Amino acid sequence: MDPKELYRRRLLSIPEAVGMVRSHQIIGTAMAAAEPTGLLTALGTQRDRVEDVTVCVCLPLRKYDFVLKPEMGGHFFVENWFYGAPDREVHPQGRESYIPNNLHQAASGKLHATKNHLDVFFGTASPPDHHGYMSLGLSLVIEKPLIAAADLVVLEVNPNIPWTLGDTQIHISEVSHVVESEIPPFELPNTPADEIERTIGGYIAELIEDGATIQLGIGGIPNAITALLTDRRDLGVHTEMFTTGMIDLYEAGVITNRRKTLWPGKMVGAFALGEKKLYDFVDRNLAVEFQQGNVTNDPYVIGKNYKMVSVNTALQVDVLGQVCSQSIGPRHFSGTGGQLDTHRGAQRSQGGRGIIALRSTAKGGAISTIVPTLALGAEVTVPSQDTDTIVTEYGIAELRGRSVKDRLRALTAVAHPSFRTWLVDESERLGIVPRLVVPGFTPAG
Ligand code: COA
Repeated sequence: MDPKELYRRRLLSIPEAVGMVRSHQIIGTAMAAAEPTGLLTALGTQRDRVEDVTVCVCLPLRKYDFVLKPEMGGHFFVENWFYGAPDREVHPQGRESYIPNNLHQAASGKLHATKNHLDVFFGTASPPDHHGYMSLGLSLVIEKPLIAAADLVVLEVNPNIPWTLGDTQIHISEVSHVVESEIPPFELPNTPADEIERTIGGYIAELIEDGATIQLGIGGIPNAITALLTDRRDLGVHTEMFTTGMIDLYEAGVITNRRKTLWPGKMVGAFALGEKKLYDFVDRNLAVEFQQGNVTNDPYVIGKNYKMVSVNTALQVDVLGQVCSQSIGPRHFSGTGGQLDTHRGAQRSQGGRGIIALRSTAKGGAISTIVPTLALGAEVTVPSQDTDTIVTEYGIAELRGRSVKDRLRALTAVAHPSFRTWLVDESERLGIVPRLVVPGFTPAG
């Protein structure tokens, strides 16, 4: 059938599409800047018609009634691979729960739990070309396996969604329905780095050599690094998330992808989240390759890159080297995302390194982020046996292969000076490192 005719026959209004949701169903959605804003905004209007609907989301960026309104309880429940600010608000109200996962296994993990079945998938796509192909646009992390497992696939077609290249294409014949919207994708502003972030970025820049391939995670510190890499040559990108800062480096001629050993000549990633400038850059750009999250984030794939350096950030690190990046004590904050995937993958790479960067203190300097033990109930994002390099504004602590005694020494040197004595005394008092085994050890390292 003529693709235009097929499109016309599959076109519904947004109210018609959300009206197809039934009680007790499981819905999966596209994530981050690819979230289907029109459909998710309208979903809450179905409250009085449905009950016990589970909606699986990942890093939702806009505020939606079906998530936020207390009266949605019993009608909609949110299961989430990665929390953002609204989810932290709803979690204590009992209408949302985290799905523990590593990003490269997220979709397959959920589908294992649902016996490879989803009732509905809501996503976004760019308008079709004359052959009837659309691009899934700004995320390919979990979307394709969820689409393959869903009985009903509805895509919100939007001219503001860039036509991204790689494994992003989907044909109109593969979807049940399309709806139309022109809501611009969510933009994450690139906030300028503060002094501490610039200092941390400077240490990390020392660890990134010419010809290296980089991954940058989510948060202020990874963002700050891009500004400090301007004198490097021939960097490559193999990341989970494309960021606006990477585009600045590409345009400055620092990122060339020329020396990459995997997908040479291309920046590889699974989703893009940043400013409009980034979304314009990834549009029909042959230098940008979108691959599914189970490819980009597979540690074995990441490890095939030469000099792969992953940079992620954290909330707490204990003297064993256990990294917590996703909770504040028992209070769930974000998610593992691809942190463990990329930290492990980078260490598999020849000349590679996994970096966790964090400020040495939080709460205006009142608490140390380097601690003798993680807070009670904290979720471990990177276990001690996987931790490689920790960076704070006081320097670089190399932990890989080191004993706990040496880890304590290295971490004390990068902790804030006003917490160093406490860190050692408390670690000894708890018996993590008996004083006996650290003769001559002083908090100054
Ligand atoms: N104890 C208590 N609170 C702490 C803390 C600690 N040890 N460390 C930080 N905080 C607070 C901060 O004060 C801040 O609070 P505020 O929002 O009230 O200001 C909040 O936690 C966030 O800290 P911040 O340093 O601003 O976070 P960020 O935006 O730079 O993000 C992570 C940092 C770790 C939350 C984020 O990178 C993340 O979720 N990582 C896990 C997933 C990941 O890395 N994936 C990789 C690929 S995308």
